[in-house]
Amino acid sequence: MKTLIKNGTVVNATGSATADVLIDGETIAAVLAPGSTLLGFDVEANVDRVIDARGKYVIPGGIDAHTHMQMPFGGTEASDTFETGTRAAAWGGTTSIVDFVVQYAGENVLEQYRKWHEKASGQCAIDYGFHQILSDVQDSSLTAMDELVAEGVSSFKLFMAYKGVFLSDDGQIVKAMQRAASNGSMIMMHAENGSVIDLLVQQAVAAGNTGPLYHGLTRPWQAEEEATHRAIMLANLTGAPLYVVHVSAKQAVDQIAQARDRGQNVFGETCPQYLYLSLEDNLGARSDEWGGFEGAKWVCSTPLRASAEGHQHHMWQSLATNDIQMVSTDHCPFCMKGQKDMGLADFSKIPNGIGSVEHRMDLLYQGVVDGKISLERWVEVCSTTPARMFGMHGTKGVLQPGADGDVVVYDPNGHTSIGVGPGKTHHMNMDYSAYEGFEIDGHVDTVISRGKVVIDRGEYLGAKGDGRFIKRGLSQYLI
Ligand code: URP
Ligand code: ZN
Ligand code: ZN
Repeated sequence: MKTLIKNGTVVNATGSATADVLIDGETIAAVLAPGSTLLGFDVEANVDRVIDARGKYVIPGGIDAHTHMQMPFGGTEASDTFETGTRAAAWGGTTSIVDFVVQYAGENVLEQYRKWHEKASGQCAIDYGFHQILSDVQDSSLTAMDELVAEGVSSFKLFMAYKGVFLSDDGQIVKAMQRAASNGSMIMMHAENGSVIDLLVQQAVAAGNTGPLYHGLTRPWQAEEEATHRAIMLANLTGAPLYVVHVSAKQAVDQIAQARDRGQNVFGETCPQYLYLSLEDNLGARSDEWGGFEGAKWVCSTPLRASAEGHQHHMWQSLATNDIQMVSTDHCPFCMKGQKDMGLADFSKIPNGIGSVEHRMDLLYQGVVDGKISLERWVEVCSTTPARMFGMHGTKGVLQPGADGDVVVYDPNGHTSIGVGPGKTHHMNMDYSAYEGFEIDGHVDTVISRGKVVIDRGEYLGAKGDGRFIKRGLSQYLI
């Protein structure tokens, strides 16, 4: 199958130009001046399908490098399966995800890794890779790290919070970092001071402060800044590269920026929720449906931050200046009924997570419309940098000959109403939308995943199992 996308504005991280994109089979064959011939051949006359993208942007498919499909967590399981979550991702212009294999204390890393392959294999609508979570860092986990790098899993997430669930102590963190420094892999860090948070949670609940707002209030920015600083110091000690996930506090951003200015290999990821939502959402004052408990919809960790403190503005600015390098969703959806409501009497029992794998490309495009980032930076933070950060450069995140035919035709004159219900976009397996009522001045028209059209003007044309495992290499950013 040969597809020509003609007359669009092709946007790569490095620049934009009016061009035609020729996809042959699963791969981009050429990016051509509009109407060009190839060695005398009339390209348009020799393809199977022509998509006219005049007046539209043609961009590399989005890469969401932080998702948790059907993750067992918080006494339940994230509500999107690999099937439903990746289909929703496709609807929103994301053509690759990197999800997390979970290893809880006492479990064997490689056994867990194999289990996650069984869960995802044959289920996904788009391509998928894995990071590996390490909790206790056993000797066998260290040898597993080497084996996983060879398997295409070149990044490992550690947690400084969630004692008894995920938390690794500083010694365990250092051991994993030493291994990463020697095998070239990336350490990803959930940077929050878990002991401090556990104490504050205990005190709040004992004082009768049990509503969702207290989730945010018991995870203060100081706990994020301190852990971010500590992680940076431990990475410095060991020489491991460090990627700090879901950064929400401006003080943590500054720790990352300062480390980078000192020449350390440290990177920061933020998420749409930290660019658009705030602690005030945890008050649950948007509707009467759940009373104050509606705030549970926005319980995630790191938490949303108080709007008066200026975190959102700082985050947009840091994204524009490259103090923060990437935007992923940390897609970890739970329904209000039967999942989030486990915490009706006690906020600490609310499963932590927000789902937005479908909306990241739109929400970040709105940042372009609002003048917060450029068009090229949109592509860079949502696609190109994720590919380079996590060993997919050359094949993903760029429109160039030889790259996978992962392409989105995005209409800047279209419109997207986010939310649940008629006329709104919502394909995730959640009974609410964290972005209900958000209006986007743009629209995902067509999504092509390795040469196959999977979304076309409001129709899903893909199939379960279209997605293939991405065997990743090492990060391109390692020095
Ligand atoms: O609240 C969140 N972020 N849930 C998912 C697990 C994690 O820490 O990434
Ligand atoms: Zn985390
Ligand atoms: Zn996460």
